[in-house]
Amino acid sequence: MRGIGLIKMIIAKDLVKKYDTTCALKDASFTIEKGEWANIMGPSGSGKTTLLNLIGCLDSPTSGSLMVNGSETSKLSQKERTRFRRENIGLVFQQFHMIPHLTALENVMIAQYFHSIEDEKEAREALVHVGMGHRLHHLPSRLSGGEQQRVCIARALINQPQIILADEPTGNLDKKNEEAVLDIFRELHSEGRTIVIVTHNPEIGEIGDKIIQISHGEVNY
Ligand SMILES: Nc1ncnc2c1ncn2[C@@H]1O[C@H](COP(=O)(O)OP(=O)(O)OP(=O)(O)O)[C@@H](O)[C@H]1O
Ligand SMILES: [Mg+2]
Repeated sequence: MRGIGLIKMIIAKDLVKKYDTTCALKDASFTIEKGEWANIMGPSGSGKTTLLNLIGCLDSPTSGSLMVNGSETSKLSQKERTRFRRENIGLVFQQFHMIPHLTALENVMIAQYFHSIEDEKEAREALVHVGMGHRLHHLPSRLSGGEQQRVCIARALINQPQIILADEPTGNLDKKNEEAVLDIFRELHSEGRTIVIVTHNPEIGEIGDKIIQISHGEVNY
């Protein structure tokens, strides 16, 4: 049947984030549909990470409304935010944040939320999914930057999140590894996941469905 509207995955309305005297986000309003790939772009210090951290429930807004996957997240307590994040969101950072004395497989397994005897199998599958099946028992120090980032993406996927958020995920990678990581995001996008990427890279901007441009905390949308 035609005429069925798109499902809104993220709806921000008049979102404000203040840090002491700095107003990092000023009345940001935008929507991101389910399955959409949105890129957040803007100069350094414009509020991109602030915005991604709010969507990812790592922080709460000073005021405004933020609906994510049908829940109003702005009013959640810290404990509720953590739970919501684990159930809905996969996070990928520019810095890999891996635990140095744990193997690739163990680094993925620590992200598991619903612990079961299936843990290791799932972690293995997530690593195979990102082309890292041959590096399961390597320590981070024995992986290249691109390989470490792929482990981090596997870790972000472990609880089957609907929403993948990434803050400059290719910022520390060379061209070849950047392409490998972007291919994984393309695949996740084709699986219908909602993807939000903070990037300075105009080439990534070209790939997405929409760009949320931000400057001095103001979203031009
Ligand atoms: N925890 C914090 N405490 C105080 N001020 C902060 C904090 N985090 C960010 N800011 C300020 O908020 C503004 C937006 O910062 P944010 O990190 O969101 O920028 P960004 O667009 O991600 O920049 P970059 O491209 O350099 O990563 C900046 O002025 C920054 O100094
Ligand atoms: Mg940033």
